[in-house]
Amino acid sequence: MFPPLFAPLIVWLLVPVQVAVADIDSFPQFPLSVLLNETATTDDPSWLKKYGSQIDQAFSGPLSFSHIPYRRCLENASAQFDIAILGMPFDTGVTYRSGARFGPYAIRSGSRRQREARGYTLSWGTDPYHQGFTILDCGDIPISPFDNALAIDQIQVAYSTLLRRSMIAEPSRMPVVWPLGYDRATHPRIISLGGDHTIVLPILRSLNKVYGPVSVIHFDAHLDTWVTYPGQSTPQSRVTHGTFFSLAWEEGLIASNSVHAGIRCKLGEGDLENDQVVGFQVISTDDIDDLGVSEIIRLIRKRIGQSPVYLRQVPSRLDIDVLDPGLAPATGTPEAGGWTTRELKRIIRGLAGLNFVGADIVEVSPAYDNAEITGIAAADLVHDFLSLFLSTFPPMIHTQRSVSNPR
Ligand SMILES: *[C@@H]1O[C@H](CO)[C@@H](O)[C@H](O)[C@H]1NC(C)=O
Ligand SMILES: *[C@@H]1O[C@H](CO)[C@@H](O)[C@H](O)[C@H]1NC(C)=O
Repeated sequence: MFPPLFAPLIVWLLVPVQVAVADIDSFPQFPLSVLLNETATTDDPSWLKKYGSQIDQAFSGPLSFSHIPYRRCLENASAQFDIAILGMPFDTGVTYRSGARFGPYAIRSGSRRQREARGYTLSWGTDPYHQGFTILDCGDIPISPFDNALAIDQIQVAYSTLLRRSMIAEPSRMPVVWPLGYDRATHPRIISLGGDHTIVLPILRSLNKVYGPVSVIHFDAHLDTWVTYPGQSTPQSRVTHGTFFSLAWEEGLIASNSVHAGIRCKLGEGDLENDQVVGFQVISTDDIDDLGVSEIIRLIRKRIGQSPVYLRQVPSRLDIDVLDPGLAPATGTPEAGGWTTRELKRIIRGLAGLNFVGADIVEVSPAYDNAEITGIAAADLVHDFLSLFLSTFPPMIHTQRSVSNPR
């Protein structure tokens, strides 16, 4: 006996079959002899002859950021670049959700609809891929998932290896702001794909050797200036994604004019006082409603400009959790009520012209993602970093610019 629900199911199954039969009938029909003769006497044309090159489509091909050239730059000293994308699959310093070791993969995957041939944006009015600079995807650092002390050293060694490679472009001859190191030379800029936020400590150690102490623009829901977590009794257990700025300050790696933007985590006694000691000014998430985007941009620029010594050296650190979890759910420590992607992108545009030494995007943890929302947002922000690095001023509103061809 069929259950009553079965009858509608049969009807549903039959419908597509009928459609399929109708489709076959509508194809033109050839006599079999014609087809057989052709296959018997003519060679198949080669792909190249018939269709041309084997292009990678948005959804195909090997995975590099925005389909740009991929090189194993750590082992290949002839791989030269002006800006490197470098993956840091590390997630054993996180306090809550692990999984950011898959972040570089997720950001590259989220970038698949971007490509060098179409890099122009109305927001920036520029195309970072066609400004005379070489941008490479330098792959991922092979980071130990077993030993954090080893992992931190591997990140520092890898970062320094790329930071000290000779550039191809000569920025002094180009209309860009490019920082000079202690050696009075220019060094490549690196955009790191995290990884949990702990990766910033070895990055700051590496940057310090080339630039000295740097000011930090830190987009995050959290301060990351905690001294330690309760119960952590070994020196290594202090090295986490929430303590690295305290450690960096203790080691003299950061200047006293850094700034957080987007803060909204819950705080305990002494957290804000300690944050000030470590050198940060706080711009909270809510300030965007009370002050507006332009004022936030002004505050950040003013803060970074306060100390002439460090004016020239600013790494930008972006924790994806600065965004609202509705727009970036896949992250290690989500906090409700964040900025929108559009607001954040606009603030980043307002920072053009500061002397950035590098940037990272961290805490993308794709196991918690839906429909690649977070990976796509992060990949888009990396494109903004590229545009930021190669812009001298914040872009004008596009309707006020004269119309020009992309590029
Ligand atoms: C088979 O193919 C050849 C070459 O294309 C053609 O000249 C010939 O007429 C074909 N024969 C038949 C039976 O279709
Ligand atoms: C190393 O990099 C150079 C320059 O980008 C490239 O031509 C070469 O193929 C790379 N070597 C290997 C083994 O990938």
